[in-house]
Amino acid sequence: RLELKIGVFGFGVVGKGLYEVMKQSPALDKAIKKICVRSKKQRDLPDSYFTYNPDDIINDEEINTVVELVDDSEAAYHIVKKSLQRGKNVVSANKKMIAEHMAEMIALQKEHNVSLLYEASACGSIPVIRSLEEYYDNDLLLSVTGILNGSSNYILSRVFDNGQPYEVALKEAQTLGFAESDPTFDVEGFDSLYKLVILTMHSFGVIINPNEVLNYGISNISDFDIKYAREKGFKIKLVGQVERLRENKITLFVLPRFVGRDKYIYAVEEEFNGVVIKGLAYDKQFMFGKGAGGHPTGSAVLSDITALMHNYRYEYKKTNYFQGFSYFKDAAIEI
Ligand code: HSE
Repeated sequence: RLELKIGVFGFGVVGKGLYEVMKQSPALDKAIKKICVRSKKQRDLPDSYFTYNPDDIINDEEINTVVELVDDSEAAYHIVKKSLQRGKNVVSANKKMIAEHMAEMIALQKEHNVSLLYEASACGSIPVIRSLEEYYDNDLLLSVTGILNGSSNYILSRVFDNGQPYEVALKEAQTLGFAESDPTFDVEGFDSLYKLVILTMHSFGVIINPNEVLNYGISNISDFDIKYAREKGFKIKLVGQVERLRENKITLFVLPRFVGRDKYIYAVEEEFNGVVIKGLAYDKQFMFGKGAGGHPTGSAVLSDITALMHNYRYEYKKTNYFQGFSYFKDAAIEI
């Protein structure tokens, strides 16, 4: 087992969540050496833990593990890149950064013989990345479909089931620590899109450019849509899906969909996420759990930290699948 000395970047919802979850894990409780934050504030931990200078972690030879939980994908990119270049293993929760820099992140890991894990970047507490990596065979997989954004699902649940106004539900999702600091990412489908791109890499072995995928969020769902769904016995869910077509093609999208009672994701409410994995030989499997919030996400970060103690790294199975077409984006080009 590798003995970890950890430097953490960020002490927001997820950083604090991780700290609280770690307190219940005595083996790791003492592993955090420094936490880099942007500004001085009253915090639960002694001041001596905190630094305002990223180099205090990056240049610290004793720190062999960096946990990146900052709320800024550009800053996250530089922190993660520098840390990997310095030979440190990294855990990150930043889905935008991972999705946009997948190829470079894979190359950096190989070049510097280090590991970058990011279970917390997709579906909070559900171990979906690790399962796709380890359990599933690319060639048996047919599709991965899910509710990947806790905030949108929370809002839809509240609006649909409780008749709450959209704005009130959104405010609640923010107060509860589910939403991104800019909630447009949640409600316009970008958060789901980044997660879907990450899941696509680990299920079908293809690096997808997020800009080439259709994503449409929930902010334009009308009263008429809701009335129609209720009349027909449907719910409206924001769904991300990657599906294998014929001839090594895959296709993916993020869209609000009418979902019938016969579907597993029909029952996924509030901030929960749910992922349905379809494949040859086993038909359908369903993974379900809390997709947002400090403690669920912190628990996924903790799981990655523990995995690093065992020298775990992603394999990034290569395949010859490619993005066959991008729903309406391609259709628009053809017109
Ligand atoms: N804003 C995200 C969500 C947080 O609502 O799902 C978890 O990734």
